[in-house]
Amino acid sequence: MKNKFPIFIHHPYLIYLDAAATTQRPQVVLDAMDAYYTQYNANTGRGVYQLAETATQKIEDVRNQVAQYIGAADASEIVFTHGTTTSINLVGQSWALKNIKPGDEILVTGYEHHANFIVWQQLCKQIGASFKVIPVDQSGQLLINSISDWVTPKTKLVAITHVSNALGFTNPYLNQLITAANQVGSRVLIDGAQAVKSMSIDVQRLECDFYAFSGHKMYGPTGVGVLYVKKSVQHEMAPSVFGGGSVNSVTATETVFLPFPYGYEPGTLPIAEIIGLGAAITFIQSIGLKTLQKHTNQLINQLLDGLHQFKQIKILGSQELLRATGTLVSFTIQGIHPHDVAAFLDTHNICVRAGHHCAQPLAQFMGYDASIRISFGIYNDKQDVEKLIQVLKELFKSNLL
Ligand SMILES: Cc1ncc(COP(=O)(O)O)c(C=O)c1O
Repeated sequence: MKNKFPIFIHHPYLIYLDAAATTQRPQVVLDAMDAYYTQYNANTGRGVYQLAETATQKIEDVRNQVAQYIGAADASEIVFTHGTTTSINLVGQSWALKNIKPGDEILVTGYEHHANFIVWQQLCKQIGASFKVIPVDQSGQLLINSISDWVTPKTKLVAITHVSNALGFTNPYLNQLITAANQVGSRVLIDGAQAVKSMSIDVQRLECDFYAFSGHKMYGPTGVGVLYVKKSVQHEMAPSVFGGGSVNSVTATETVFLPFPYGYEPGTLPIAEIIGLGAAITFIQSIGLKTLQKHTNQLINQLLDGLHQFKQIKILGSQELLRATGTLVSFTIQGIHPHDVAAFLDTHNICVRAGHHCAQPLAQFMGYDASIRISFGIYNDKQDVEKLIQVLKELFKSNLL
């Protein structure tokens, strides 16, 4: 599989274990973007000439493709953004500012990435609403007890991650929280950044109102993301980013915006990137989500087995959940800072992430400053894990510890 990814031609010895930050891109994605720039480069939405119509049609094809990929009922529920962060901020500005009132509650979990945390924390301060965070214990479990303690008649938005980017498993309370939210009439936003590259997503079955993700974490390019907005919620929103291409008419006093999703896509779209995202979805589908999931699962289990021999290593979160649904493994090593571990691995061409992974509240709940995170893509193989374990053995023999 590595031969489908040009980075490994340029770096034949590279062991890239940081897919959770961004995946590598296969040649087919780069080719699709290149084809746009070299064969039908034109701005979309406006032109009446053939080249512009071809580019516009491609964008709409990808919109349909995304809708099908995540099980949306209609392509008009798909807004192109610049990534998960912009998608979530868009919900904040276009939905929450209109619908959250002083005294209302927004609920998140202690698992959230900053992108799905700070937006709600700051918005609640601005509005005078209450920002509620379900805490996490030292073993990485959500301290929920009773769901009704958290999801109350005052809850207006439950904003939760699908898969934790720091612990690597699916939020075990995802469905319960969604059901409870729907029962009290709260809206539900799911941060799918870490889920989309290997899980089958069905936004209708999930019963969420918003679903956000980024192209670059699913073999697509940077600079493009998606916000799914369920049709029945669209009337509760108003555009919050303004500019050309998103309007029906403008006078000196009034603007009439285009219907969903175009009213929410002002300015020039990241056209090449959207086309690249479409190619990434086709790439994923050509492998098959079941195969991708099985592949990740095998590597996670191999890694967990390998890490067991090191007494100084503490795996974060439930190993049972990781073995079942894990997409990455985070750990700490007694007596050595994660940055030093990452730097040591880098001297052996192994790229891993070290830090708080933009989930500082989780680190505070669980009582660590930073961790080492290993995350896999389809280009990783058994040998990558073997090499990692071998280099970790060298680390333990070195005088760094
Ligand atoms: C769970 C989660 N949410 C949100 C984000 C933010 O994604 P982006 O930087 O592409 O906007 C990330 C990125 O690491 C993530 O892992």
